[in-house]
Amino acid sequence: MISFSRLALAAAAITGAVALPTNATDAESFGLLARSGTPSSTGTSNGYYYSWWTDGAAQVTYTNGGGGQYTLSWSGNNGNLVGGKGWNPGSSGRVINYSGTYQPNGNSYLSVYGWTRSPLIEYYIVESYGSYNPSSAAQRKGTVNCDGANYDILTTTRYNAPSIDGTQTFQQFWSVRNPKKNPGGSISGSVNTGCHFNAWRNFGMNLGTQHNYQIVATEGYQSSGTSTITVS
Ligand SMILES: *[C@@H]1O[C@H](CO)[C@@H](O)[C@H](O)[C@H]1NC(C)=O
Ligand SMILES: *[C@@H]1O[C@H](CO)[C@@H](O)[C@H](O)[C@H]1NC(C)=O
Repeated sequence: MISFSRLALAAAAITGAVALPTNATDAESFGLLARSGTPSSTGTSNGYYYSWWTDGAAQVTYTNGGGGQYTLSWSGNNGNLVGGKGWNPGSSGRVINYSGTYQPNGNSYLSVYGWTRSPLIEYYIVESYGSYNPSSAAQRKGTVNCDGANYDILTTTRYNAPSIDGTQTFQQFWSVRNPKKNPGGSISGSVNTGCHFNAWRNFGMNLGTQHNYQIVATEGYQSSGTSTITVS
């Protein structure tokens, strides 16, 4: 989930602009927050684990399709959302395939995305992204070649940020494909997670001993777009 400081900044910008009502009930009745979207949820769908999270600020529809398919459609250039399908628990050697269409307009990622505990780590293997390269705000450790492509390896520390264990301070690990796969239409690929996890370990970036979920996720931040992806 995207940087808390940027969310706080956006919230400050909003409160500066209008006298924002002090609670969500008021905000909804004033029509300032669109909460018509699909509420956050997690579970299983057709043999796959899915995770869907929204901060409630975007107009967004998340739909589970057949097998490993999901569809996200979001608009309004507001808020942060991330969802997709995969497995829970994840594993450290899985080869993950994905195919479909990915059409972001603005800041968005298409990634293998997951969490570990002991320690708590949020990780991304970013295959494609919209207007914002997530590696621009992270600390670069090096590069790795996996599945025939180069990836930049980076870390960030998140302070008091949303996590699978509530608000926590934790590390994010990143592999960002360079150059990215083109967004804007059909997209497909294969990600050998073990290749990335080994490279991370070689840079002293150790995932936790307990895997939590591991999905192919579409994320949006103050943007709009559509994404229909089948994971296998
Ligand atoms: C939100 O504001 C409404 C109207 O002022 C009030 O009735 C309600 O109790 C408030 N809710 C919370 C959670 O503060
Ligand atoms: C993933 O794709 C590769 C080819 O790129 C294929 O060999 C493999 O069987 C696929 N795995 C799954 C689970 O679909």
